[in-house]
Amino acid sequence: MTGRKRVAILISGRGSNMSALIAAAEAADYPAEIVGVFSNIVDAPGLASAAAAGIPTAALSHKDYASKAAFEAALTGVLAGWQAEIVCLAGFMRLLSADFCTRWAGRLINIHPSLLPRHKGLHTHEQALADGSTTHGCTVHFVTPGLDEGPAIAQASVPVLAGDTPATLAARVLVEEHRLYPRALAMLARGEARL
Ligand code: GRF
Repeated sequence: MTGRKRVAILISGRGSNMSALIAAAEAADYPAEIVGVFSNIVDAPGLASAAAAGIPTAALSHKDYASKAAFEAALTGVLAGWQAEIVCLAGFMRLLSADFCTRWAGRLINIHPSLLPRHKGLHTHEQALADGSTTHGCTVHFVTPGLDEGPAIAQASVPVLAGDTPATLAARVLVEEHRLYPRALAMLARGEARL
């Protein structure tokens, strides 16, 4: 298939959502190809999974840069080298500047483990249990300068069950994340989702 969108994935950790995107993009009729995986954690386990799948990787520690702007300039260079057209955040644990978000507006998406606008930020499963939510889930959304505030592209929900712990709930949500993210990226790559 020609005209597939060139997608870079940014990670900081295990990269299970990254692997779900890589697997989806192996289908000949998927509208995007994964052209590179970047991590700000140089020994993130996801880097090895990406390399094993034959995807180019790059790692630059944010700690090696004097400022967020300098780190993002280096990241921008990596993305340009890959000729990335879309950037998917998948467990990328750095806040990107308003400048970066604006430059990539409409082409920068994230997966968040809650039904946004509920449970922004970290520890979303703890938050859902603490406030007695009966449903929980995940959201793929456009990234805008406000944390977890960009418009949603797609959501999937799961029930909260009696006796759930943050770990059991997270595992139930993660199954849905791995289904949702490839679907949402396909919508963006096909032009069916627009900011
Ligand atoms: C996922 O729960 C994702 O929603 C959140 O961070 C976690 C990353 O997990 N943003 P993984 O690295 O994709 O396995």
